[in-house]
Amino acid sequence: MSTSVYVETFGCQMNVADSERAAVRLRDAGYELADKSENADVVIFNTCSVRERAAHKVFTRIGEVSRQRMGATPVFGVMGCVAQLEGETLFESSPAVNLVVGTRATDRLPALIDQALDRQRRVIDLEERGDTDTWDVPAASRTSPYVAFVPIIEGCNKFCTYCIVPFSRGREKSRTAAEIVTEVKQLRDYGYGEIHLIGQNVNSYRPKSEMGLENVKGATMFSRLLRAVAATGMARIKFTTSFPRDFHPDIVAAIEEHENLCNWVHLPVQSGSDRILRLMRRGHTTSDYLRRIATIKNARRQIAITSDIIVGFPGETEQDFRDTMSLVENVKYDGLYIFKYSERPGTPAAKLPDDVSRSEKRTRFLELETLQQRQQKAIYESYIGREVNVLAESVSAKSRSDFTGHTTCHKVVNFPRHELKLGEITRIKITKAKQNSLYGETVAA
Ligand code: 5AD
Ligand code: SF4
Repeated sequence: MSTSVYVETFGCQMNVADSERAAVRLRDAGYELADKSENADVVIFNTCSVRERAAHKVFTRIGEVSRQRMGATPVFGVMGCVAQLEGETLFESSPAVNLVVGTRATDRLPALIDQALDRQRRVIDLEERGDTDTWDVPAASRTSPYVAFVPIIEGCNKFCTYCIVPFSRGREKSRTAAEIVTEVKQLRDYGYGEIHLIGQNVNSYRPKSEMGLENVKGATMFSRLLRAVAATGMARIKFTTSFPRDFHPDIVAAIEEHENLCNWVHLPVQSGSDRILRLMRRGHTTSDYLRRIATIKNARRQIAITSDIIVGFPGETEQDFRDTMSLVENVKYDGLYIFKYSERPGTPAAKLPDDVSRSEKRTRFLELETLQQRQQKAIYESYIGREVNVLAESVSAKSRSDFTGHTTCHKVVNFPRHELKLGEITRIKITKAKQNSLYGETVAA
């Protein structure tokens, strides 16, 4: 019988994409993939460090799985950001672990597992990706049959002072446009209706060679890539995350030119105070940011905008927080992810005193959340009576008679499934607005 491997994924879309790649490599090497930890010979946690106490969460899960297995413990492996950052120390902190796989070693996973199965050895690989490694994941091996993530750039060179990503994922490395376009065409031919081009900063896309990119004067590499991907005819193309400093107006021009480039931009601002933005080393001021927002809002197509904000960064005063509140009030985001600052050891901000108290962070979080909810309600209600195109992605968790999916502007819509099939794009008239989703009825064709 072949050895079975279970991979559990935490964190961002990049981790989901890495787990998919790991699954393909494992299957090709003759491993069986398990969908539960219960009977698997090897249990791997693909970890995330952006949230607090990430390593702790892995240890808790290892404890849970060990108890469930009552003695017959599997080989435990840790991959992803926690593996890359903690390295060898994971063996000491959690003796059950005997495999540590860094963020750029995914393609070597099968060989590493081979070695780890010989339990006398502890196996660790924190090296760079190999020159012959490919990013390719066949269409047939994806987690979702309807929406596929396509990494275009990995790592980050920005070193925002609070962030661990440049340490856990290393320097930016872009895939070639030819490779990306080929993958998108395969996904299109396989029947996918939507892809997400993903990366920590998609608009910092800069491949070594310009092959596969048409030379448009004044256009950035990223907007040229967007046009090349749009030309594949894939029905819906979304991209995330965009970095404000590199957000060139030409990205908006590309969205206007191509209907299949979706009308949604995730552009994290992090703070509305120039003083804090400087301390965060974000490389943009609030007025730079607002200029980009104005370009997006002035587009002929209505483009939804979402953002991330950190409250309680070291030294954030009441006035700094008020500036964040006014920026949010001014922009009117379609969605907002709010984070309470938490120190990441090894980042430059960790040297600053974490001086905004827990209760103050909580107060600011709630106040900002209330403002966002109020504004979001008005935006969502403005959709009532409008028609939108929705990709049916799954059966609704709340009602078996409904499907759930997203609009091109990335809002969740629930609607009666009737005779519809999953994977289809349907025209829906919105009849109700909830806090974070819309409800609607199929429009007769
Ligand atoms: N503390 C709080 N939030 C953070 N983020 C990244 N690092 C930290 C940290 N140390 C948030 C940022 C980023 C999002 C993915 O996570 O807002 O955009
Ligand atoms: Fe982290 Fe800043 Fe890079 Fe985003 S741009 S991943 S916040 S360092």
